[in-house]
Amino acid sequence: MLTRLRAVAPDSTAARAMAERLAEPDVDGSEALATSSFEDPATGGWHVDAYYPSAPDLTAVFARIGPWLEAESTPSLEIVPDENWVAISQAALPPVAAGRFLVHGGHDRDTVGRRRFAIEIDAGEAFGTAHHATTQGCLAAIDRLARISSPRTVLDLGCGSGLLAIASSRAWPDARIVASDIDSVAVEVAAANVALNGARGRIRLVTAKGLDHPRLRDLQPYDLVVANILAGPLIGLAPRLSRAVRPGGLLVLSGILGEQAREVLGTYALAGFRLVEKRVPHNWATLVLNRI
Ligand SMILES: C[S@@+](CC[C@H](N)C(=O)[O-])C[C@H]1O[C@@H](n2cnc3c(N)ncnc32)[C@H](O)[C@@H]1O
Repeated sequence: MLTRLRAVAPDSTAARAMAERLAEPDVDGSEALATSSFEDPATGGWHVDAYYPSAPDLTAVFARIGPWLEAESTPSLEIVPDENWVAISQAALPPVAAGRFLVHGGHDRDTVGRRRFAIEIDAGEAFGTAHHATTQGCLAAIDRLARISSPRTVLDLGCGSGLLAIASSRAWPDARIVASDIDSVAVEVAAANVALNGARGRIRLVTAKGLDHPRLRDLQPYDLVVANILAGPLIGLAPRLSRAVRPGGLLVLSGILGEQAREVLGTYALAGFRLVEKRVPHNWATLVLNRI
């Protein structure tokens, strides 16, 4: 039997710091066997799990990770049965089909085989394995757009794992593609995934908040921008995205709850976009917009 400690963090940086701290050996002997930090797709909150051979002393744990804990939260302990953890975690992430794309982990490489629309992404420190409705919505939109348009320049803004940029490189083999994220760890993960999927040299990677980077402005205005962020940042980015997408160009937005779609659409209408398509699976809206 193992003991799992779960702690809540206010953001990804604090979650990673806690996971690293819990994995370090300490004088109290409470070194974790394994740790992971992850974003809960349902709530957007960050969690840290650490596994121990026996229950650690919570006071000692608190002393180690206290500065990074979510305010007023307390780590919880739970006994978990011995299992084949690798098999369980891999089974929990089966391949996902979205349009013609099939996104799979390394454990399914042999079963899926090499095909134009198969993309290998392992769950890691960046969002984007295609198991979330927002990523699936963007992949399906890219697939549909690939049948009717040929963008020469594409920006994946908030690229996470880099999946949407890789998908764009498969959909439009001649396009110039940039993938950017505010989080430098995500950009490192995306770079590894780009290489793993044979797209090195096809996709330029940039760490930047929004469009604040000269290398993002180089290719401006883009024929297509895909941004799966959240409603709040997307509303803030509307004026910048209006300049970043060429007239007649396309914008795919996701990370928007069903009830937030109206406000996002209103903001983008004022910024010069009209709605082409709206799909809302599992109450997550994916919007395809056209720059007037
Ligand atoms: C929901 S994830 C999407 C990842 C991937 N594109 C997908 O569709 O699965 C959102 C990503 O946007 C990044 N992000 C959030 N705000 C941003 C901003 N203002 N500028 C750039 N990236 C941002 C986050 O770090 C995160 O990696």
